Amino acid sequence: MWQFALKEVMEQLILGIETSCDETAAAIIGDNGHIYASQISSQISEHQRHGGVVPEIAARAHIDRIEGVIKAALAEANITKDQISAIAATAGPGLIGGVLVGTVVAKAMAAALSVPYYAVNHLEGHALTARLTNGVRFPYLLLLVSGGHTQILAVEAPAQYRLYGATLDDAAGEAFDKSAKALGLPMPGGPNIEHLAKSGDASRFDLPRPMIKKPGCDLSFSGLKTAVIKAWQETGEDAKQKSDLAAALQAAISDCLYYRSRAAMQNFRADFDIDTPDFVVAGGVAANQTIRERLKELCVFEGFSFHAPPIHLCTDNAVMIAWVAAEYQHAGLSPSGRDFAPLPRWPLASLTPDMTVQHTSHHMDNAS
Ligand code: KG4
Ligand code: ZN
Repeated sequence: MWQFALKEVMEQLILGIETSCDETAAAIIGDNGHIYASQISSQISEHQRHGGVVPEIAARAHIDRIEGVIKAALAEANITKDQISAIAATAGPGLIGGVLVGTVVAKAMAAALSVPYYAVNHLEGHALTARLTNGVRFPYLLLLVSGGHTQILAVEAPAQYRLYGATLDDAAGEAFDKSAKALGLPMPGGPNIEHLAKSGDASRFDLPRPMIKKPGCDLSFSGLKTAVIKAWQETGEDAKQKSDLAAALQAAISDCLYYRSRAAMQNFRADFDIDTPDFVVAGGVAANQTIRERLKELCVFEGFSFHAPPIHLCTDNAVMIAWVAAEYQHAGLSPSGRDFAPLPRWPLASLTPDMTVQHTSHHMDNAS
């Protein structure tokens, strides 16, 4: 009996692995959400001179770094690999070469240690992080804004999503990254635009706010990037104008996210009868202070409660991947078998069995 009780309270340690883009990351968390280790090795210096993430360079860099990153996580947590009770790795969406590296390492370790393996959807990692960091309860409205995805969804449970809107072309992060590149700023585009925007005057350029007057909650960012490039060429690429343009771009993206989230709030209220519903912004672009502030204002205005994970858990990390496994365990969902094939495209709403009745067609699903 006491053995049973001991087992009941014993914390399970989960190793998370993230390799879907240009960060090789490993983390160890308890199934209660305690973070014991989070290691992130950024490859940015290897991609910088190419002006973007080069898939083959990324895959090779993951191979070079993954073992060291996992060992560093074990050392940081002060545990041995035998103490791990489950392994979770990003199995998509993302750059497939990197995803293969992470999943193969995770499966091999899970087989050697005889522990379960979880094939995690990277977007679900972003989607559920606020439950770990802010204790947000289901259901909530989620604005997921990353380098490859921009979606607004109701999060009802692990593996249960209702899609309200998504970008029809570029993701918000892509609009930041591609515009930064056009302005001659180095990677990472988003943080560099944010930094430059601090000294800029957003009102100097009148950039478009695509889609905001249309019905529904879909977004579009490719026209914005084109407008930035055009304005930059017309100004004669003047240094002062660069910061004004950065500020104008940030303001335009913030506005688009503001108005489309606002539209989604009506959908959420129609679907769920909650007095003060929760609104979560997650993904790399959620690291942007101006965007956070704008969305906070929106929440006050619409009677939602605002949540955003801390900045270091908005951008890619392995804590969020391990946390998805913990959520699945708590929800009684079985781990995927080791035969799960990694997916370069893997829409979040497809995790929900009856997704076909829950979202409209024509939503882009770019790689991570
Ligand atoms: O979630 P994430 O780390 O990786 C993906 O899953 O894509 O998001 C990366 C994206 C990039 O486009 C990056 O420029 C953007 O997030 N980002 C930002 C900021 N920090 C990262 N965008 C605007 N402001 C930031 N501070
Ligand atoms: Zn991400």
